[in-house]
Amino acid sequence: MKSLLAFAVAGVAAVGFSPEERPVQILLAGDLKSYLSPCGCVKPMSGGIKRMVSAVRSIRASGPTIFVLNGQFLSGPSRQDEMKSETLGQALKASGVDAVFPTKSDLQLAEVLLENAHRLSGETFLSATGEAAQTWAPSEREAQGLVIRGARRWTEELRDAQPSLLLWDGNLESARSVAAKIDWPCLVLYRSAAKPSAALESIGKATLVGGGEKGKVLVQVSWLAGKIKAARIIDLGPQVPDDPATSQLMAQYLERVEGERLLEKLPRRPSEPYAGSLSCSSCHQEAHREWLVSEHSTALRTLEADGHDADPDCVGCHVVGLEDETGFQSRQKTPRLANVGCESCHGPSAAHVSDPERNRTPRDARQSCGSCHNVDHSPGFQYETYWPQIEHK
Ligand code: HEC
Ligand code: HEC
Ligand code: HEC
Ligand code: HEC
Repeated sequence: MKSLLAFAVAGVAAVGFSPEERPVQILLAGDLKSYLSPCGCVKPMSGGIKRMVSAVRSIRASGPTIFVLNGQFLSGPSRQDEMKSETLGQALKASGVDAVFPTKSDLQLAEVLLENAHRLSGETFLSATGEAAQTWAPSEREAQGLVIRGARRWTEELRDAQPSLLLWDGNLESARSVAAKIDWPCLVLYRSAAKPSAALESIGKATLVGGGEKGKVLVQVSWLAGKIKAARIIDLGPQVPDDPATSQLMAQYLERVEGERLLEKLPRRPSEPYAGSLSCSSCHQEAHREWLVSEHSTALRTLEADGHDADPDCVGCHVVGLEDETGFQSRQKTPRLANVGCESCHGPSAAHVSDPERNRTPRDARQSCGSCHNVDHSPGFQYETYWPQIEHK
């Protein structure tokens, strides 16, 4: 409760304005790419819909607010993506979202998923101005007396509509060129993976705002009578409390993922038999001791703590050999292969265990790190600094 209060107070509060000159708080999120959970695997992790919804609701509670989402919405057309898009739609509804403008690539990827999310969100998705696009989404929405439009190119129709909020399916460069044609007060929300900045660029009467990616931050712009009063970046870090209703949605989503056994349905390739880390301990005592005290030996427990232990998005890097026919299936079925084990790096070694002199372990273990310690999940990874932490012989 304490953190919730502290957070609400920290918002750009509506204090100091009389009612008739009360600014509208415009909140923007960029490319979401179906990120429901906080992004990345290194603390402090940013983002996730539980925090996003809680931040939006807390600001909404203190005055007139508009929340828009501009950018890539989906990450793919799979069954899991379908579940994610539905969960997102419901979470957006809980946030009271005002408009969502998906990208052209979203439409090409899976229009039916978008249509579904549109419905669940309370029909908030927009189609592009001046494009014979989807029939299920309107081309314009109004919120707090402001007109919101989405566009992928400049059209006369756009000029006539004179939206105050333009959700632009393009990068900064193309947003600059459309801003140059706009001669009315307008916020142009463009797409960019770069971390957003509160120092906003203006061109004529238009101001450019980027939303970042993977739902890590919200950009808040305080807008009064066509003018920007303030702007700031809200980092959706651990200081933002989880929204209870959205936490429930998230739990339901993970239950569905588990219930439909998506992990079991992943494709697997033929492989040599695995032995499990315990079977190495008799001959490689020191290596085994080192491993037991490393974080690798508890990597699945990390996922179990948050209910992600049957989630195909996560499990592969937190166990042994998920992509192999002989690899991890579940803690119940393959307990020896739970967590990141010796064979995650050295390769399937049952043959080596039964006759070490004749059979060597199959893999150059140095090459293995990058398959899990990639830029998204271990941005600070360097072999020189990480290996000494788990060094063994
Ligand atoms: C019965 C004893 C025994 C067991 C059990 C055993 N090893 Fe070994 N291991 C050896 C011996 C002996 C060597 C040295 C072989 C050599 O140098 O020719 C060795 C060498 C290795 C090497 C280094 C060189 C190489 O290319 O083979 C690795 C890595 C290794 N073992 C991993 C494992 C793993 C992983 C397990 C468990 C899945 C395991 N070992 C289980 C006895 C064992
Ligand atoms: C199968 C995937 C996988 C492979 C391969 C892998 N790791 Fe990891 N590593 C992880 C996971 C997952 C964690 C986090 C475990 C946790 O905290 O639950 C981790 C954590 C670590 C940590 C602890 C980091 C910290 O912040 O304390 C170090 C060090 C590390 N790995 C080094 C390595 C090195 C070096 C290699 C290659 C030789 C390697 N790892 C290969 C998945 C992997
Ligand atoms: C591509 C491989 C990969 C995937 C996919 C992956 N992780 Fe990780 N995870 C890692 C690695 C590597 C680390 C250790 C990072 C480090 O310390 O540098 C880690 C660490 C973590 C940590 C520990 C953070 C800490 O500092 O204690 C958590 C929690 C976590 N992952 C959760 C998840 C969840 C939830 C998912 C799925 C939504 C997921 N991971 C998907 C590789 C992965
Ligand atoms: C995170 C990846 C990782 C895990 C987990 C891991 N190792 Fe290793 N292991 C390595 C790397 C990397 C080396 C060093 C290879 C080199 O020097 O080129 C190594 C070296 C070894 C060596 C010495 C090989 C030699 O030629 O000197 C043995 C034996 C060994 N590991 C056994 C094990 C056993 C047994 C376990 C589990 C208890 C284990 N390792 C877990 C990555 C790993």
